[in-house]
Amino acid sequence: MLQKNISLKTYNTFGIDAKASFFANFSSVDDLNTILKERENRKLFILGGGSNILFTKNFDGLVLKNEIQGFKIIQESENDVVVEVGAGMNWHAFVLKCLEMNFGGVENLSLIPGNVGASPMQNIGAYGVEIKDVFEYLDAVHIETGKVKRFSNKDCDFGYRESVFKTYAKGQYIICQVGYRLTKIHKLNTSYGAINMELEKQGVNNPSIKDVSNAVIAIRKSKLPDPKKIGNAGSFFKNPIVSTQTLQILKQKHPNIPNYPSGPETAKLAAGWLIEQAGWKGKTYDEKYGVHKNQALVLVNYGNADGDEILKLSNLIISDVYQKFNIELEREVNIL
Ligand code: FAD
Ligand code: EPU
Repeated sequence: MLQKNISLKTYNTFGIDAKASFFANFSSVDDLNTILKERENRKLFILGGGSNILFTKNFDGLVLKNEIQGFKIIQESENDVVVEVGAGMNWHAFVLKCLEMNFGGVENLSLIPGNVGASPMQNIGAYGVEIKDVFEYLDAVHIETGKVKRFSNKDCDFGYRESVFKTYAKGQYIICQVGYRLTKIHKLNTSYGAINMELEKQGVNNPSIKDVSNAVIAIRKSKLPDPKKIGNAGSFFKNPIVSTQTLQILKQKHPNIPNYPSGPETAKLAAGWLIEQAGWKGKTYDEKYGVHKNQALVLVNYGNADGDEILKLSNLIISDVYQKFNIELEREVNIL
């Protein structure tokens, strides 16, 4: 059942040619438990669509690819519906399925790469919506005991690109199913970013959830590189959250610094702006890798870069932004 010495190049959107000593996929909890029994003491890595990881070396352990499928309605009322989705379903395919059934809530999260199972990991977010806004529960296998545990929204302790699965429960669970509460009577969220402008451009006056999805898709395609053409993992860094006091100090020197309210005493800055101002946007190294020309928050692999080269570039960016702005960028991508 376990395959040996497998190239992971096609399993990560950065297109890094790392190898896994052992590799297996599973499409049910029973399959998973059988594999876990054969695991011995091997180090584990749970793989979804590979769109938020950077391999910097070969993985000397067992990579487990989650391929659990399924989409079922668990609960339905006049106003909303709870659907349970297999962790191995592609995220955008799930969004399209919701649109087809006229279930609302995830249209702003259209075209995010990866699979359903990773959506709670970093509480994926885009265009004013985060997964926590529609998340109902998830079922995850506890690796040490093989038992299934249900996590509620509160249990997940969601934050900006954060959840318990990145903190105290890190590396302990394999997410197998996720339940989402979706609307049948929709509340559209078009105020964020360029959505309204895009809808206007498309001549849409009274938008449906499908129209919002199409607008988000158009905006994303105009800004972000397509991983099928240029290797990348989306935003490489998180947008920094600073105190309003720090923001005031920054504003004295940089009056145009983009900032967004994020709490009573805090503001979110745009890491892409900081990186661009520091002069990194569009930089390329040996025509192999660099910083994307349209979005400075995205590091790219044009061909055969090593993960280590991209990691070193991210270190240079972190220290330069720190020197210039006194702000420490934090990586969003999982480094392996
Ligand atoms: P992977 O990269 O395979 O895994 C990510 C992490 O989750 C790893 O630590 C892995 O071990 C863990 N994991 C995955 N599945 C499971 C599971 N079933 N159980 C336990 N652990 C698991 N993200 C956003 O939030 N917003 C965006 O707008 C956005 N835009 C992007 C645009 C592009 C072009 C790209 C390439 C990426 C973008 N991302 C964005 C990042 C990425 O798409 C998300 O983080 C996505 O949820 C990752 O899913 P995945 O299945 O590929 O996870
Ligand atoms: N900006 C620049 N230069 C750049 C890039 C951005 O000045 O090179 C400025 C923009 O002009 C704008 C601001 O930064 O004023 C914000 O830019 P944008 O709207 O493109 O969004 P972002 O903050 O760069 C975040 C998420 C994205 C998500 C979008 C839309 C993070 C780390 N990134 O990007 O998520 O799709 O907002 O909501 O929060 C991801 O996580 O992988 C990801 C792509």
